[in-house]
Amino acid sequence: MFDYQTLKNYLFKLDPETSHSMAEYVLRTTKHLPICFDLLKRKNFIINDRLKQNIFGRDFLNPVGLAAGFDKNGTMIEAMPVLGFGFVEFGTVTPQPQEGNPKPRLFRFTEEESLENSMGFNNDGMIAIQKRLLKLYPFTLPIGVNIGKNKTTPQETAIEDYLDLIHGFKDVCDYLVINISSPNTPGLRDLQNEAFIRTIFSTAQQITSKPILLKISPDLEASQAMNLSVIAVQNGASGIIATNTSIDYTVLTNAKKIGGISGRAIQDKSFYIFNEIAKELYGKTLLISVGGINSGAEAYKRIKAGASLVQVYTALIFHGPSLVRKMNEVILELLNKDGFDHISEAIGANRR
Ligand SMILES: Cc1cc2nc3c(=O)[nH]c(=O)nc-3n(C[C@H](O)[C@H](O)[C@H](O)COP(=O)(O)O)c2cc1C
Repeated sequence: MFDYQTLKNYLFKLDPETSHSMAEYVLRTTKHLPICFDLLKRKNFIINDRLKQNIFGRDFLNPVGLAAGFDKNGTMIEAMPVLGFGFVEFGTVTPQPQEGNPKPRLFRFTEEESLENSMGFNNDGMIAIQKRLLKLYPFTLPIGVNIGKNKTTPQETAIEDYLDLIHGFKDVCDYLVINISSPNTPGLRDLQNEAFIRTIFSTAQQITSKPILLKISPDLEASQAMNLSVIAVQNGASGIIATNTSIDYTVLTNAKKIGGISGRAIQDKSFYIFNEIAKELYGKTLLISVGGINSGAEAYKRIKAGASLVQVYTALIFHGPSLVRKMNEVILELLNKDGFDHISEAIGANRR
């Protein structure tokens, strides 16, 4: 049977971005191979009522989603049931297409099961991606779009980029995410301030009733992350996603120090910030935990801390296509162990 650990030996000899392009090609191909698609979906996609939640008016059949950045252009959404994901977030999409930062800009740290990237929002731009989504939406899995400003857009007019993107995507997704927490666009993280968050969320309410979430950096002071999240929610945000990648290079020996770190190296840091936000916002808004989640046990820990949903990116690279199935199997085992009939009983169980 297919052995990802063996395949990984070959894949990891290639430059990480080349491996990613190959994975994208394979995933895009699955939709043209219905027998293969169905077989893999049956294997990896766990269907169990105990994991099912209705959120934002959509059924999330399991709580494990694909984090932003893996599918920058929304080209792999149709393949995601094959990997077992319960929902997909694509992007970051910017209004205009952009190439991103110079290569190499993606690095693996195999021992640490971590990545460092300085991609810089390489993407096809709003118009091309919106066309792609028009053909696809609504999809069997809930779809989120993660949006960001173009590198060349001045800070003073950054808000216009976000408002244009909300207009552009509001009818072709189930939720939107304001990304002001990626480290690879100069000045982007400076938008993580009260005034910007207040303005963007209150203005967005006038454009759409679609849920709009805020994605937070793990490098903020915990109190600041919590305050900004509260302000977002008070001004209409439907949820918080914590966290993005980190530029705290102490978490990784031999970091390149040019981009954001993800994976196991940020697991503790990311959980810490998530937990601080959950102390204040659990029960008041939807919380999504992301950052270093690499097992069902880690996902379950985040769920008990208050996450209704979790996301993964880096662990998928190191653990392969069976990761999400295994995570969901373990979550079910842990629900049994704790005597919970349904995931909703586990969400925030450590907060009550
Ligand atoms: C190569 C790469 C590209 C990413 N691009 C984006 C992005 O465009 N937008 C975004 O919000 N997050 C992006 N992320 C961050 C992830 O969505 C996630 O928040 C972070 O990697 C932590 O999760 P993980 O440890 O499971 O990877 C990217 C991560 C990686 C590794």
